[in-house]
Amino acid sequence: MNTRRAAHVRHTMNSHARSLTSRYPRSLIIAALLALVTALAAASLWATRGSANAAEPIGSNFPSAPPVAPGGEVTTAGEISELDKTLLRKVRQANLWEAPAGRLAQTHASSEAVKRAGVHLMEGHSKLDSMVREAAQTLNVDIPDEATPEQLALVRKLQNSSGAEFDKLFANAVRAPHGKVFPVIAQVRATTKNSVIRAFASQANITVLDHQNVLDETGLVTQETYDEIAAAVVPQ
Ligand SMILES: [Fe+2]
Repeated sequence: MNTRRAAHVRHTMNSHARSLTSRYPRSLIIAALLALVTALAAASLWATRGSANAAEPIGSNFPSAPPVAPGGEVTTAGEISELDKTLLRKVRQANLWEAPAGRLAQTHASSEAVKRAGVHLMEGHSKLDSMVREAAQTLNVDIPDEATPEQLALVRKLQNSSGAEFDKLFANAVRAPHGKVFPVIAQVRATTKNSVIRAFASQANITVLDHQNVLDETGLVTQETYDEIAAAVVPQ
């Protein structure tokens, strides 16, 4: 492009920009851009939900864990304990199986309350997974990219169930680990000296409480499951 042509293109672009800002107030343009960003985020969430299909491979679709740099921890946010790290890893693994389990509920459940609980699982663990990956990167903590073999086996079991059988299995198999991890989150929130972990534990507490609520509301959690949780968390 020669010099005269380049000058003409620059002039034309500047004219368009001036014309837009002269016709519309800057605040209106910013509001329109924000609305567009919100609409795109909503469309993305809808697409995630819409992809629920029994024939699809069951995975979380969450990004991989961030790489860990050798040579120690980043401690500007405060001292981080082994329990703090354990919480990050446990929540990461919960995300990796509960999001697919919630998605399966949309196609395999017969109970509307179970489907609703599944939506809460998908949304809650999507948010927690963004947070846990960011916290792990900030604090240089390695987190897993796979759920445990037991968790993966449970997802396969859910995948092979349907109707009332799925509903009962889902409500109990998902409720038990939420009850067991709840006191651990409270302990981390109460004792951590790290500000990133503090914010993360606060959100995890909200999410795990919400999941217990929606699972209890299915009316399908059995006395045996509550006993199992009590045996695990109440000092004997
Ligand atoms: Fe959950």
